[in-house]
Amino acid sequence: MDEYVKIIVEGKTYEFPIILGSEGEKAIDISKLRQMTGLITMDPGFVNTGSCISNITYMDGEKGILRYRGVPIEQLAENSTFVETASLLINGILPAKNELNRFSVLLNDNSLVHEDMQIFYQNFPRGAHPMSILSSMVNALRSFYPALQTVEEEINITVTRLLSKVRTMAAMSYKISKGHKVVYPRPDLSYAANFLNMMFDTPVKPYKIEEDLVKALNVFWILHADHEQSCSTSAVRIVGSARVNLYAAISSGIAALSGPLHGGANQAVIEMLTHIIENSIKVEQVIQRAKNKKDPFKLMGFGHRVYKSYDPRAKIMKKYCDKLFEKFNFHDPLLDLAKELEEAALKDDYFIEHHLYPNIDFYSGIVLRAIGIPTNMFTVIFAIGRMPGWIAQWKESADDPNWKLNRPRQIYMGQPKTDYVPIEER
Ligand code: CMC
Repeated sequence: MDEYVKIIVEGKTYEFPIILGSEGEKAIDISKLRQMTGLITMDPGFVNTGSCISNITYMDGEKGILRYRGVPIEQLAENSTFVETASLLINGILPAKNELNRFSVLLNDNSLVHEDMQIFYQNFPRGAHPMSILSSMVNALRSFYPALQTVEEEINITVTRLLSKVRTMAAMSYKISKGHKVVYPRPDLSYAANFLNMMFDTPVKPYKIEEDLVKALNVFWILHADHEQSCSTSAVRIVGSARVNLYAAISSGIAALSGPLHGGANQAVIEMLTHIIENSIKVEQVIQRAKNKKDPFKLMGFGHRVYKSYDPRAKIMKKYCDKLFEKFNFHDPLLDLAKELEEAALKDDYFIEHHLYPNIDFYSGIVLRAIGIPTNMFTVIFAIGRMPGWIAQWKESADDPNWKLNRPRQIYMGQPKTDYVPIEER
């Protein structure tokens, strides 16, 4: 039997249907609420609000579940590559061998960036953050690659261009920031190996590709590939709802991701750990500060809006972190400190009561450091990983026949009507 929720307004009862998701999640469909009752809902931060029906990613924050198109993240991290996972997210199913090959060839064919774009890079101020540069450059892509003839061709080529070029652009920005010669993509290398080669190959020291590092980067990207309606994904959908082009929508996602409460947390974690070590701050002091409501300090890399248990991505990231460190006999004092902090926090009543566990960013920065990525590039690496998710979400919303311009309402609590007073009378 269909379920309803009854809302009584001024003695009159209205019924609103309950929508049931494929994993048993429930939502009250209030799309006709204002029309029927004249009321709107108030939900700052959208803590209780579903913005869309989606077939892409399933998360269960209580049980620590994350699946892309139904496939558990653990299985993808173990067996898949980033390119295959991107195809799964964007097209809805795991690709057949020939489809995956075709996709890889297309990515290679579109990997070069218009030479004139290099001039843009050279004109950003030296200290500009790579995320601001990436957001601007992705938006600029539309001027270099205008719309194609048919909608179908336009979407497929734009999607492939974006996925491929964003990796080249990220590596290019790093090289230019160092004053080094740009390294071009090579068609014989995989997506991740190509990226590492473009970042670290130099005329004086050719880059030696280590398969374990390539695997670690693939896992990093797979774990970041989608996270349903995160802040940046919502930005992509909201901006996209105005029917802007894909580059503009993704550029807004990159800007949202750069914040320290979202993707920027991976950089913030490393900065926090470094600060603790450099200033010889004790673990107990850090925990005390994080608990102090009068102190704005938060334990970066801890807590999540949806996960109220251990972030499943953090579990996998930590495992790969340990594997990598053992294999290459790495040692990083930041990893030792991170583990100490985690142990102390997970025993602490405040963290237990608030359901605060490490999120993916707690260990991901340490993995990126081990790969050799500089700290200010961490969020850029996250953005490359999130690209398939943003694209899949943008495509899903663009294809939705019921899609509407996203435009929330508000409750006004400002001044009532106030007459204009000429300046000399104020
Ligand atoms: N350290 C200390 N206290 C915390 C933390 C933290 N990291 N995170 C949440 N809390 C407390 C918060 O003070 C609040 O306490 P109270 O209810 O007593 O006032 C309670 O936990 C709920 O926190 P909230 O900020 O209202 O919860 P939220 O769902 O809005 O926040 C969050 C989620 C990720 C913004 C927050 O946990 C946070 O700021 N964490 C640190 C930044 C971080 O690691 N961000 C990366 C998120 S994962 C990557 C991604 O997917 O974007």
